[in-house]
Amino acid sequence: MTMITATTMAVLLKPMITAHRLLLFQTQKHTSIIAKQQKQHGSLLVASSVRQSDNYCQNLVDEFDPNIPIEKALTPPSSWYTDPSFFDFELHRVFYKGWQAVGYTEQIKNPRDFFTGRLGNVEFLVCRDDDGKIHAFHNVCRHHASLVASGNGQKSCFVCPYHGWTYGLDGALLKATRITGIQNFDVNEFGLKPLNVATWGPFVLLNLDKEILPQQEADNTVGSEWLGSCSEYLAANGVDSSLSYLCRRVYDIECNWKVFCDNYLDGGYHVPYAHKGLASGLKLNSYSTKTYEKVSIQSCDGGSTESEDDIDRLGSKALYAFIYPNFMINRYGPWMDTNLVLPLGPRKCQVIFDYFIEAHLKVLSRHMPACVLRGYGMINIVLSFISKLKDEGWFFLFYF
Ligand code: FES
Repeated sequence: MTMITATTMAVLLKPMITAHRLLLFQTQKHTSIIAKQQKQHGSLLVASSVRQSDNYCQNLVDEFDPNIPIEKALTPPSSWYTDPSFFDFELHRVFYKGWQAVGYTEQIKNPRDFFTGRLGNVEFLVCRDDDGKIHAFHNVCRHHASLVASGNGQKSCFVCPYHGWTYGLDGALLKATRITGIQNFDVNEFGLKPLNVATWGPFVLLNLDKEILPQQEADNTVGSEWLGSCSEYLAANGVDSSLSYLCRRVYDIECNWKVFCDNYLDGGYHVPYAHKGLASGLKLNSYSTKTYEKVSIQSCDGGSTESEDDIDRLGSKALYAFIYPNFMINRYGPWMDTNLVLPLGPRKCQVIFDYFIEAHLKVLSRHMPACVLRGYGMINIVLSFISKLKDEGWFFLFYF
């Protein structure tokens, strides 16, 4: 399955449209003036070095041939996992393209709910306004680029903590402090910069490179664009908005984000050795992986189990879906957990585990936090396995 991940990635890497986050606080007019000045003062040299870096990274991608039959193929070169310029290239080509899972509808269930986050170098803010409409913005003040909000919670407006500019939940600039007497300042030009946002099932998604779409249109198209033909399969197999959100655990891990994904996607190769307990409850010779355009679904029949909990986790309805490029959905029994792998650097990522349960069991789960315990067990196994590989240099043997 490592080859399938890499193949998908090589196919989906496309030419970059650069969006310079720090220019977000300028108007279009200012941006074009600055662009002209930069041209006059030799910023063409910078553009040229960016192009060189892009060419270098594109050559690294081209070294990998996704058409070689898997029996004869090699893994991608180790530079894909370690080179800082490749990491930056990857942010633009993989994460700033297409729909990306960033959160859950329960985080913005009520008017005035909001949450913030970061995808690559892009700070974002998602909220629900008083009319129930969902908005997403670059979390960048249009004055001097401070973060406008942090964390999550409820707000009736966003007041920038630096100089107090105030924005409505629809992103409009409501108040710019001590602006009296400043000429040619139009508040309508300084609203927060919007991002495309959509929901699918219990998930909230952003798309950084698409023209802003009306909410209904975005919600109607996101399923096929994000999940391809697998959208209906997931919806029919219990990945839906009827689930109740339970809790979150966040882990920073010292490895490239793809290492975590590769581990998830190795088709059960590591299970008999790294997860002996889990393996004893599985019929490993029934392990199978089905791939779709952007989704891979792994399944395995359960064997004899000692507890009812195991039956839930390993039962015939268990479904483990990987969604390109960094999102995993594990649906088993009444539970669902998701793993979102955020790239933090060439050798660092953050993994966010979120836990859901069927709504009628949520009250019971307060007294029986089995999913948390189960989650801890699973997380610890994955983390210790990654740590073991790293300590023993296995990554670099494998990825030559
Ligand atoms: S940076 Fe936000 S008000 Fe100045």
